Amino acid sequence: MTELLPEIAKRRANRALSDTPVSADTLARIMTAATYAPSCFNNQSWRYLVLNEAASLAKVHPALSEGNYWAQHAPVLIVVATRADLDCRLSDGREYALFDCGLATQNLLLQAVKEGLFAHPMAGFDPVAVKSAFDIPETYTVITLVAIGYPGEGAYLSDKHQTAETSARSRKPENEVIAYNRWTL
Ligand SMILES: Cc1cc2nc3c(=O)[nH]c(=O)nc-3n(C[C@H](O)[C@H](O)[C@H](O)COP(=O)(O)O)c2cc1C
Repeated sequence: MTELLPEIAKRRANRALSDTPVSADTLARIMTAATYAPSCFNNQSWRYLVLNEAASLAKVHPALSEGNYWAQHAPVLIVVATRADLDCRLSDGREYALFDCGLATQNLLLQAVKEGLFAHPMAGFDPVAVKSAFDIPETYTVITLVAIGYPGEGAYLSDKHQTAETSARSRKPENEVIAYNRWTL
C-alpha cells in the first residue's frame, strides 16, 4: 500500500481518543485543508462549526446516539452543515451541496491524519438537538459530526469497539464498485 498517499492509507475511523487538547494552529490547518476542496462553480457549500471549549462540547454530548458514547471523549467536535441552495442545483435534480461537503470533509480528515490525529465522521446524532443547541437555522442540514483527538488508550471503549481499533480495513471487492470502459456493476 505504499503507493497510496500515506494519509489515505493510514486513515481509519478510530475511537480511542486522548483528551490532550488540539492546538489552535493545528485546528486552523485542518480547517484550511477543508476549504481547499473543489466545489461546483466554486460555491463552497460547506459550513463548519468547530467546538473545542468544554462548554460547547458539552452541548453536543446529549445529541450523540448511544453507540457514539466514545465521542464524548473527543477534545474537538466539528459540526458540518450545509443548505441545498448554497450550491449547484441542476434541472434534472442533481444537487451538489452534500457532495461538496463530503469532498471538503475528506480533506479535513486527511489533514488531521497528517497532524497525527484521529478524525472520525458520524451520522449517529440528533440533528434537531444539535441545531437547537447552537441556534443553527432550521434551513440548514447538519450532515455530519467529526470527532477529533490524539490517539489514546481507549479505556472507556466497549469490548467491540476496543477490538475494532486494530481490526483490518473492510471493503467490498473493487470489481463490485469500479468498472473500466463497460458498466459491469
Ligand atoms: C457519513 C458517515 C457516517 C458515519 N457514522 C458513524 C457513526 O455514527 N458512528 C461510528 O462509530 N462511525 C461512523 N462512521 C464511520 C464508519 O463506520 C467507518 O468509516 C467505516 O466503517 C469504514 O471504516 P474505516 O473508516 O476505518 O475505513 C461514519 C462514517 C461516515 C463517512
